[in-house]
Amino acid sequence: MTFALHSTVFIIACILAISVYVQADTPNGNRPNDRPGRFLSLPVPEKCSRRPKEFFYKGHNYFFTGHLVELKDKKFDWLDGRNLCREYCMDLTSLETQEENNLIFKLIQQNDVPYIWTSGRLCDFKGCENRTDLEPKNLHGWFWSATRAKIFPTNRITPGWGYNAWSQTGHKKIPQPDNAEFDINRTVESCLAILNNVYNDGIAWHDVACYHEKPVVCEDNEELLNYVASTNPGIRL
Ligand SMILES: *[C@@H]1O[C@H](CO)[C@@H](O)[C@H](O)[C@H]1NC(C)=O
Ligand SMILES: *[C@@H]1O[C@H](CO)[C@@H](O)[C@H](O)[C@H]1NC(C)=O
Repeated sequence: MTFALHSTVFIIACILAISVYVQADTPNGNRPNDRPGRFLSLPVPEKCSRRPKEFFYKGHNYFFTGHLVELKDKKFDWLDGRNLCREYCMDLTSLETQEENNLIFKLIQQNDVPYIWTSGRLCDFKGCENRTDLEPKNLHGWFWSATRAKIFPTNRITPGWGYNAWSQTGHKKIPQPDNAEFDINRTVESCLAILNNVYNDGIAWHDVACYHEKPVVCEDNEELLNYVASTNPGIRL
């Protein structure tokens, strides 16, 4: 998805809308690990200016928290991971193409990273009700939060890809997403992690409950960069 020039007002409206969207994204009732009322963070212009740029791909900078001295041993739940990235005008990485996915898989493999969060999210919160196009949710309900792009049905190979990035196995020994923790204690697995051979399945996508803590890969977010550029004339990003 690309965004043409927006007026500042429109971009602010978008950011507020996204904040509300995600505030509604946590309260699934009986999960003790939920912290209700958590919001998406707004970008911090000074942090956007000096954001870590570990590598560059197709117009976006990326970094892995495991490669930053101050974040090396830190792990984050999914929303805290998004917010860490967002303050830098970035977001959790979204893997819309096989080439980009291969790049992130390679980073995981070469650095022996056990797992990371991506921006992938199940649309199971307020605003997703009565969306027949998202049913059944385990096949059609996944999207990239950072760009709001839909993820191709989980049981099919995305056109242009040579493999299905979702693992073909997991806790329940069935293809992902399997919502396995829900069977254990009713915690929905609403977030998309990349796991490195946890189920003897190589590097692959898994649905995981969002409260788990993992390192993250942040990727430039055009909306946030455009917003900060338009509200801070002359800023170097
Ligand atoms: C979804 O559909 C149900 C049943 O038709 C209705 O009661 C409910 O208000 C709808 N929810 C939304 C958010 O539209
Ligand atoms: C659900 O089970 C997992 C795995 O055993 C555990 O880590 C988590 O704390 C449990 N959550 C709840 C709500 O009991």
